[in-house]
Amino acid sequence: MLKIGVLVSGNGSNLQAIIDKIEAGEIQAEISIVISDREEAFALKRAARHGIENRYIEPGSFNSKREYEEKLVQLFREKEVDLVVMAGFMRILGPYFIGEYRQRIMNIHPSLLPAFPGLRPQLQALEHGVKVSGCTVHFADEGMDTGPIILQGVVPVLDDDTEESLSGRILEKEHELYPEAIRLYSEGRLKIEGRKVRIL
Ligand code: GRF
Repeated sequence: MLKIGVLVSGNGSNLQAIIDKIEAGEIQAEISIVISDREEAFALKRAARHGIENRYIEPGSFNSKREYEEKLVQLFREKEVDLVVMAGFMRILGPYFIGEYRQRIMNIHPSLLPAFPGLRPQLQALEHGVKVSGCTVHFADEGMDTGPIILQGVVPVLDDDTEESLSGRILEKEHELYPEAIRLYSEGRLKIEGRKVRIL
């Protein structure tokens, strides 16, 4: 069975969507550990409620980003994690971590990449005046929101949208898309060919 390690920083609604699909038997996988870089992240409570091991690892307690990432890798190795899922994890993984889990790290970003990478993509979309936006599940590489795209979901941008209303609409789409991408991975149906991910 596929073993997943999840990295979180905040509310964890994407984590919840993934847990729910696993518990419903729609994804053949188990979440082995959830790690947060923020102690107060509600995502840790969600994991605990479902009996999933959860840890707060304080990045500031390490001498370097590399040492912090070595700790993450060590924990994931102990749990025999096959796939790392970044679910609202507000940090960029460095070359060490990416190298250890190359092509086995997924991220979700609330825009239609390559448009609006980085912070507050929903606000960037509104300010640009686009008519549709959405979310992208992709494999993480060394860049920011640049890795091979697995799935994208589209939502309309309405004239009177605020950052909050657009974020909420995109988040609902995220909750459909992220479990679907993990399901495809768990079934061995994602094939990376350069920048492209073929769905078998
Ligand atoms: C999501 O919009 C995700 O795409 C972004 O941060 C948000 C996290 O939401 N990177 P949650 O913690 O999964 O509720």
